[in-house]
Parts: sequence; C-alpha cells; structure tokens
Amino acid sequence: MELSSRVQRISESITLKLNAQASQMAAEGKKIYNLTAGQLPFRPMNSFVDLIRSESDFIKSFQYSPVAGFPELRKKVIDNFCETRGVSLNDAVEGVEFDAVISNGGKHAITNILGCLVDQDDEVIIFGPYWVSYPEMIKFCGGTPVVVNSTPFNVFTPSLDELERKITDRTKIVIINSPNNPSGTHYSDDWMKGFAAIMKKYPKLVIISDEIYYQLYFYDPKPTYFYQHAPELLERTVVVDGISKTLASTGLRIGFTIAPKKLTAVINKLQGQTTSGANSLVQRALCQFDFRQTPTYLEPIKKHLRGNAEVLGAALSENQMGHIWYQPVSAFYYLLDFSQTPVMKRFKNGPGSDRSVAICEELLSEHGLALVPGIAFGQENTARMSLVLEKGPFSEAVELLIKFLLD
Ligand SMILES: Cc1ncc(COP(=O)(O)O)c(C=O)c1O
Repeated sequence: MELSSRVQRISESITLKLNAQASQMAAEGKKIYNLTAGQLPFRPMNSFVDLIRSESDFIKSFQYSPVAGFPELRKKVIDNFCETRGVSLNDAVEGVEFDAVISNGGKHAITNILGCLVDQDDEVIIFGPYWVSYPEMIKFCGGTPVVVNSTPFNVFTPSLDELERKITDRTKIVIINSPNNPSGTHYSDDWMKGFAAIMKKYPKLVIISDEIYYQLYFYDPKPTYFYQHAPELLERTVVVDGISKTLASTGLRIGFTIAPKKLTAVINKLQGQTTSGANSLVQRALCQFDFRQTPTYLEPIKKHLRGNAEVLGAALSENQMGHIWYQPVSAFYYLLDFSQTPVMKRFKNGPGSDRSVAICEELLSEHGLALVPGIAFGQENTARMSLVLEKGPFSEAVELLIKFLLD
C-alpha cells in the first residue's frame, strides 16, 4: 500500500504519544505524575450537563445537525464573542457580513480553515512556542510553516520586527494563539497594538486568531486582541474558539469558527463533504446554555491554577533556580527551561542541540514524571508541564522535579 506524500509529511503528535505511555505505565501499577494533560480534570458545570441530559429526550438530538451548526447556536456564538471581546461585527467593516460555523472541536475548525485558505507552497507564519498541530496541519495542506520564535528570557514574546522580516510575497496567513499553549501566557496589549499596525500594512494577509483559552486567564490583565485596536482587520480575521477548555469538555468535540461569510460559506461546503455537522445533542444543549455562567464556573479553577503556579515558583526560587521562573498567567501550562539548570550538564553530549526528548524520557521512565518535550512546540531544551493536577500530587511532582533539575 502506497501512502500519500501528503500524510507522510506530517509527524505523530508527541503529546498524545507521551500521554499514552504515561497511561500505560500507570496501568502497570507504576506511580505516575501526569503533567502532560491538555485538559481540565474537572466535571463541567451541572447546568450544562443537565441540558445535555434533557436534550437526550428528543429524537432530533440524535439526527444530523445542519452542516454549519444550528442557527440559534451560531447566533449565540457570535453574540457571545461580541460581548466578551467588546466588539461589534455588525458595523466592523462596511459591506462585510460575518457568520459562525460549528465544528468537531477547535482542531477541526483550524483544519477546515487551513483547508479553505492554504494553496501549495503558501507560507503560514506561526509564533513559537506554537501549538504542536499547527505545523503539521499546514504541511498537510501543502503549505510551509514559517516560525517566528521567542525565548524564555522575554517570557516567550515573539519579536514583531522579526515577524515583519519574515513576511514574503508567499505569506498567506499569520496564526496567533493568545493565551498560548504551551507557554501559559498571553501577549500584552502593546504587543497586540504593534501586531495590528503591521497587519494593516499587509492587506492580503489573513489572520487566524486561536482564542480557545481566552477565558482561562488567572491573573489580570485579561487577554486583548489586535482587532480591538483595529476593527477593520476583522474583514480578514478568522477567530477560533470552542468549549474544550473553558467548559472542560474536550471529549464533546465542539469548536467554533467566526469569520466573514465569504470564508464560512466555503468551510460549510468543505464540512458538508467531509464530516457533516457537529454533534447534535451537544449543540442543542448549547443552544439553551447561558455562556455568561462560564466565569463563575472558572473562578475556583483559576484559583487552583494560581495555587499550583505558586508552588512551582516558590520551589524554583528556594532552590536557586528563580532565574528560570516566569509567571504563567493564562491557559494552564508552564514551559520549563532546562538550559539554565544544573541537570543540563548531564545531557550535554548527544546529537543536535536539543535534549528535551532525552530529558523527558528519563523524567518519565526513572521518576514517573510525564512532561511534554518542548521541541514539539519548537522550543529546544524545555518541557511543557500542565498545572491542572490536584495540589497534593502536584507538590509531590514538583519536589521530584526539583531533585532531578539539581542532579
Ligand atoms: C492552542 C490550541 N488550539 C486548539 C486546540 C484544539 O482544541 P479542541 O480540538 O480540543 O477543541 C487546542 C487543544 O489542545 C489548543 O491547545
């Protein structure tokens, strides 16, 4: 069987692979601290679960949904977007109408968008550290990912000068993900202003704003966006959001795309020929759901994330590693920099300059600590750790980690 060159271009998701290995070790009875989680380990709010339950009484909940999603839900998604981001789509750009499409998760939404926009050899700029799937999705569509990277020293803020230097005639899209997976930070309002100014200079560029962690900021100021400074950019902005992260519902697979109708119409066409509409039952529950309950639901979760971040920050500074600490403020990750810690000496030999995979392999096999190697996000010698674990096990994991870093 000959596989397509398209599929051979993409690599396996390291996150899923490591998670599987950690689960396998746990199933064998080994004590594992799984810090790879990309989801909140909490039950969604009762009002939402009750709606799903009550909608399961209707036959319609088990039948095909409209391809783009139920119209009431699409309207609700748009209204919620406008309300939470403080923008109006009605008068953002004269003559441009906007719509929403409901897909099977944010990942599916982004795959649809790239499928509708990327042509062979188009360049798509992504900011490092980047979400693992962006480069692979871009390559699958025939495009070339172009990375504008950042470093732990400036808290993973990509340089806007470098962004401008990397824009070429072939650049089609810039993807921005704030709050960011894996750094657990969001770009500042000044950065967003600067970004808007650059985007205004390049009228052909499309901006994909992946806002899947928007509501999950646990320190002020809250995330802001370039289009709040330049609403005219909404004409070529595609916003991605969903319920996976903020409603702790990764398994329900519901994601949203908000974009000008010119794009949503073709996404509708693509979705209609590939997956059809998303899960009817969950969409019908969401039609009744009051999105304004979300901040209240997230309050104790944010407190928990702040608490775990404090445990980690304090442990690093008490052990003379305060220099690698930065304050995570959003999403639920921290990107740990090994390069300035004593353990790096033990890993100095080997091919290439990245040791994140070797370090994470040893962390898992010898200490039961599962972290995701930073190279998966384009950051050498770092690892992503999730802050969602319960406080007790999280503190134990940090203790083991500190010992390892000092070894
Ligand atoms: C930055 C980012 N975007 C999109 C997604 C996709 O989310 P889902 O497909 O679970 O809705 C994720 C999931 O981890 C993510 O981290």
